[in-house]
Amino acid sequence: MNNLRLVEHPLIQHKLTKMREIDTGSKEFRELAKEISMLLCFEATRNLSLENVNIITPIAECISPVLAGKKLAAVCVLRSGLTMIDGVLNLIPAAKIGHIGIYRDPDTLSPIQYYCKLPPDISERDVLLLDPMIATGTSTSAAVQFIKNYGAERIHVLSIVASMEGMKLLCNSHPDIDIVCAALDESLTDYAFINPGLGDFGDRAFGTK
Ligand code: URA
Repeated sequence: MNNLRLVEHPLIQHKLTKMREIDTGSKEFRELAKEISMLLCFEATRNLSLENVNIITPIAECISPVLAGKKLAAVCVLRSGLTMIDGVLNLIPAAKIGHIGIYRDPDTLSPIQYYCKLPPDISERDVLLLDPMIATGTSTSAAVQFIKNYGAERIHVLSIVASMEGMKLLCNSHPDIDIVCAALDESLTDYAFINPGLGDFGDRAFGTK
């Protein structure tokens, strides 16, 4: 899993523990998801290219770095990925936003795309794919493939909790992407929930059942 960065920063781990707790309500859960996403975005963008420009401060002229290279797009996997957008936009307000909806066919268990709206120039952008839970890894892997099919070349997956099994599948299917994740959990339950995980992310964030 050479393309995985596990972010063990104490602020992320503390906030994730709060998210995991069964008594944490939807409002706090969404706030924590946003804060963790912002911190994951900080890590994911660590290697963006810079170029030097000449500027004038109130004191003197100097050379100082600004972002260079490709613009960014954030693509969220519906519906739990919606909770990660604001954290990313806090750091990169000019990012364009895309949405992908995927469900698992109950018979074949294959991921099927039911919705896809991406920025038209996605092939010219670096992409942050927002998928907070990587359970079996099949739908995240399919989402990465959809984005690649639109021509995007540099893809960073931002995830909050992954199962070991799902992360191995994602890393092996897409060794060319960069993955930033806050926690790798031991196992999956019989219903493909992450164990210990945090339950159904979408239901907890949006107060549904
Ligand atoms: N999606 C969730 O919301 N929770 C899990 O544990 C796995 C996938």
